[in-house]
Amino acid sequence: MVEIRLASLRHVAGIVEVHRSDLHSTRVWTPEGWREASPGDLDPCQWVLNGGPWMSVETCAIHVNNLLTQGQIPLVALEGDRVLGEVELILGDEGGRRGLVAHLSVIEVHRDFRGRGVGRALVEAALSAARDRGADRVTVVPEERAREFYRATGFSPAERWMEVSVSPGDISEAMFEAELFSPSLEDFEGMELVVGRYQSGLNIALNVMEEFAGCDALGIGRSWRGVVEGVEFIAHVWSAPFLKEEVAYVWTRASPHRRLELESRLALSAVVNLAGRRLRTLVPQGLAAELGLAGRGSVEFWGRGV
Ligand SMILES: CC(C)(COP(=O)(O)OP(=O)(O)OC[C@H]1O[C@@H](n2cnc3c(N)ncnc32)[C@H](O)[C@@H]1OP(=O)(O)O)[C@@H](O)C(=O)NCCC(=O)NCCS
Repeated sequence: MVEIRLASLRHVAGIVEVHRSDLHSTRVWTPEGWREASPGDLDPCQWVLNGGPWMSVETCAIHVNNLLTQGQIPLVALEGDRVLGEVELILGDEGGRRGLVAHLSVIEVHRDFRGRGVGRALVEAALSAARDRGADRVTVVPEERAREFYRATGFSPAERWMEVSVSPGDISEAMFEAELFSPSLEDFEGMELVVGRYQSGLNIALNVMEEFAGCDALGIGRSWRGVVEGVEFIAHVWSAPFLKEEVAYVWTRASPHRRLELESRLALSAVVNLAGRRLRTLVPQGLAAELGLAGRGSVEFWGRGV
């Protein structure tokens, strides 16, 4: 019998086993580029580059601990003591336009236990947790291979964001002022992620804040807070040796009366001028079209009511 429970530190080794079951090869970053490496040669920082914090007990413990202490909802599917799968539900208030956003950021079932209803049980438990916290909808960004699973569990396409590469000259300059700062999670309360929406606003804020000491290979981030044409914003730019272009995110204190595309354009102008160089990010589909920025790829949010 499969039981769904809130994850705790005692489940961390099992969660790592679940996520590693999906891995086909491992690699390390060197000054010459990526190189194949055997799992035994990887340190915890290098494991993060092979699939995220879930890939080693050291970083997964930090990650699960962060989620739990921040009141987020990592759930595990258990058969006895064995962890068969994991899901993470992230809830955050994104202010005027979106309100409380409940987002399924990660779901993974151990390769040997797929196709037996474990994924469905995890999604149903996450939907019920979202409802208990007052959400009326849950979103997800399905990987290609998981689309049929999400269709089967009641999700459908809702919103598309385009991946763009943008330089300061590509966009008309908006008036802004900003200062570098070290954000804490509370700073993102009521802020909507309007540039770089790969996942939900709080999801990316948690990623940005999650630091693994000594893992220089994961790169560094710089954050600014400021105001662009009357709109309060937080911007974050991430650079890492293995990234061809720096990656940008901007959250704004959204007004329900402003168009998302307008706010996203102001925010994009501010961050690209702060960085002073070409950046890679995601913008709403409508803005990519308005700016004539050719999308390289796209991210599709799916959703369903709870
Ligand atoms: C996606 C995943 C979590 C599904 O978990 P699972 O335990 O295998 O799924 P379930 O057995 O609960 O399936 C639930 C329903 O989805 C359907 N489904 C699942 N995977 C499917 C697939 N690849 N193609 C078609 N239908 C699929 C099942 O048929 C089932 O439908 P039914 O209940 O009507 O028969 C699992 O395959 C996985 O971990 N994949 C790798 C990681 C991943 O892709 N995560 C999602 C990232 S966004």
